[in-house]
Amino acid sequence: MYKNICKNFEPKRDNLLLILHEIQDSHPQQYITKNAMKYVAEYLKISIAQVKGVISFYTMFSTTPRGKYLIRVCNSTACFIKGSDNVLEILNNILDLEKESITEDNLFSLETCSCLGVCGNAPVMMINKEVYGNLNEKKIKKIISDLKRGNK
Ligand code: FES
Repeated sequence: MYKNICKNFEPKRDNLLLILHEIQDSHPQQYITKNAMKYVAEYLKISIAQVKGVISFYTMFSTTPRGKYLIRVCNSTACFIKGSDNVLEILNNILDLEKESITEDNLFSLETCSCLGVCGNAPVMMINKEVYGNLNEKKIKKIISDLKRGNK
């Protein structure tokens, strides 16, 4: 899969971020494997340390498997003031998770992130590519319950 993705880009270092995004998005567990990192480094003729450096710099990249539903809770200023910690606690309780981890059924993983650009709707979370704002316990429970129901 990652080999085909690389072929769509010129082998220039400038394309590293785009390639990594596509590789991660194409993986069912939304992460970048060691083999993919190695291949990208060879393809772009850069060191694997450079690839790892970029992956570790950006929080949206992961080198460990994630759930089918990747929940990112914004913890930047506006969301923090409006209770992002509470959102995290609610999600941890509902999903029986520790902070920043994955459920046993591999359905959900939970992470924090920086501003999602919709501060007016704080507190905010993003699940895969969908953004949910003005979160409260009732709303969070419904969102998670709907996603679980969709998987039965
Ligand atoms: S601070 Fe959370 S969306 Fe901007």
